[in-house]
Amino acid sequence: MTAPAREFTHDGIAFGCDYNPEQWSPDVWDEDIALMGEAGVDLVALNIFGWSHLEPRPGEYDFARLDDVIDRLHRAGIRVNLGTATASPPAWLTRRHPEILPMAADGTRRFPGGRQAYCPSSPVFRDAALKLVAAVAERYGSHPAVALWHVSNELGCHNALCYCDESARAFREWLQARYGTLDALNQAWGTAFWSQTYGEWGEILPPRATLSAANPGQALDFHRFSSDQLLDYYRAEVEVIRPRSAVPITTNFMVTAHIENLDYWTWAGDMDIVANDHYLDNRLGDPTTELAFAADLTRGLSRGEPWLLMEHSTGAVNWQPLNLAKEPGELLRNSLTHVARGADGVCFFQWRASVQGSEKFHSAMLPHAGTDSALWREVIGLGATLDRLDEVAGSRVVADVAMVFSWESWWTANTESRPSQSISYLDQVHAAYDALHAHGCAIDIVRPGADLSAYSLVVVPGLHLVSEADAATITDWIHAGGTALITFNSGIVDEQDSVYTGGYTGPFRDALGLHIEEFAPVVPGVEVSLSDGTSGRLWSERSRATTAEVVATFVDGPSAGLPALTRNTFGTGAAWYTATLPTRDAYRGLLSRIAREAGVRAVAETEGDPASLELVRRRHDDGTTYLFVVNHGADAAEVTARGRELITDEGVAGVLVVPGGAVRVVKETTGDVAGIHREEVAE
Ligand code: GAL
Repeated sequence: MTAPAREFTHDGIAFGCDYNPEQWSPDVWDEDIALMGEAGVDLVALNIFGWSHLEPRPGEYDFARLDDVIDRLHRAGIRVNLGTATASPPAWLTRRHPEILPMAADGTRRFPGGRQAYCPSSPVFRDAALKLVAAVAERYGSHPAVALWHVSNELGCHNALCYCDESARAFREWLQARYGTLDALNQAWGTAFWSQTYGEWGEILPPRATLSAANPGQALDFHRFSSDQLLDYYRAEVEVIRPRSAVPITTNFMVTAHIENLDYWTWAGDMDIVANDHYLDNRLGDPTTELAFAADLTRGLSRGEPWLLMEHSTGAVNWQPLNLAKEPGELLRNSLTHVARGADGVCFFQWRASVQGSEKFHSAMLPHAGTDSALWREVIGLGATLDRLDEVAGSRVVADVAMVFSWESWWTANTESRPSQSISYLDQVHAAYDALHAHGCAIDIVRPGADLSAYSLVVVPGLHLVSEADAATITDWIHAGGTALITFNSGIVDEQDSVYTGGYTGPFRDALGLHIEEFAPVVPGVEVSLSDGTSGRLWSERSRATTAEVVATFVDGPSAGLPALTRNTFGTGAAWYTATLPTRDAYRGLLSRIAREAGVRAVAETEGDPASLELVRRRHDDGTTYLFVVNHGADAAEVTARGRELITDEGVAGVLVVPGGAVRVVKETTGDVAGIHREEVAE
């Protein structure tokens, strides 16, 4: 944390967008601002890619257009989320200083012409960028329209891993600070292997493309270094802004399925308010459950405090192989899933669809078709709905289940040379989350080492890398009476990516009461049968129970006859373990059983299958609660609730009917909340 946090305050739920007026002439700005008023837009991110406009030549600033746009927005009562304009260096900078261009692992430079064409470790880039930040902060730091600073944009989206000589130099410095001596580094990276021992610091390089598999310890530290470098860059911008402006500062995270390079657990504490960008990834089997997971993880980063959805899309994106349009109503469902899970702001990329540039086929709030479009009407409808939900702002989600998530496990579990390339860390995380989500449980996503005392159930999917200390926070909690599910590929390596020996799961071994000898991955597409009638996929292990009760064994496959599902009484708690990836239904059944044992309840009682619903409750400190129900299914759902539904403004006297595809938010009648819980989670 570089300075005490400043609070971002807003009247109700913020509704906004990225706005790129530089792509349009001033007469369009007036129309834009009028339409923003119509839609209820009240927070606009500006100047994200402004560098070449603000500083057309080195040291020569031109703020005329930005002054004008900010003033127009201000006159319309729209607040500004002001970009520092450093997201993409101008052509003059990369021409004068081609050494700032990032280098790929194979040693080739990346040319300008896209965006983010800079090495995060480049002092030349930093110097030029910080001069611009100083000028921008000086000029607008006290402007009454500016409500939030937006540092750069999605730091590390394209350039997180740079392998150039400048990065090599910075990497060595980082390593010297971490290890002190070369002996310690050689030990940490296991360089005795393949004659990799370093005799001088100067010999160390980023993990550039090699002929064979690279050193995984080096790769892990390079990930850590790269994340730290960008955080350091964020801090450098913040240090320039703080003395010039009292406005809160943030940047937009990318908590999403396809970006893995930043360890946001180490970043989040620096943000005055956590902000996230999320795009549905239709390459995933279940993009909306991933959305729920990402929103819960963002809330975890925010330590439960409300956060901002800084970007998502009204419809299709432009960067997937097939860019699906949203179904009618999906925009509202997506947006309110974020709000249900703690967002106090819903913003989009972008306001008006571009007609030029590589994002011209990306959806926007105001589509190419203009206001005579279903999409515009959905945008207007969303704005009106958010207005009705203003009173929800500031409330928090209360969860009794925690799931442990770790970027370091993501990086290391997905190492080049591993037992099976067919399963990744996120597959395990998403599968476990889906199983909990299907029961309508409220789930907090926490970092390894987090205090677990508030939870009834803890799920630890594939926590490949874990320190002894962080593992102990979990096993101590179990010992003291907690119920946990730990899944395969957990506790495999320590902080140095060195394997724990003596039976896999290392620091979880005693809690699990298992001696695991060998991984035996399952061929993709083949299901292994378990003795309880369920099936598993992709993984099995050869193990024996020491103290655990074997709940199910593998019937066939590479580990036939050996434990597949176990439960160990540990202290006064219980540690469950699955040695395979259960099929979706099997996983839901398993977590239902474990949740029941742990006394975990669904957020609300529903008629039928809650799997196609989002059920989340937000609560104000004064006890006022809001039950969010998002119905992804085609059929109407019935949920037990009492109070006033805020979107339809109707009373709810016991049963809330949520039509297929609709969203409802009930301000619950005080005193009745406990009564609407089921005593037990669904079978
Ligand atoms: C984000 C980015 C935006 C826009 C958007 C498109 O990664 O911050 O500038 O490119 O993606 O989906």
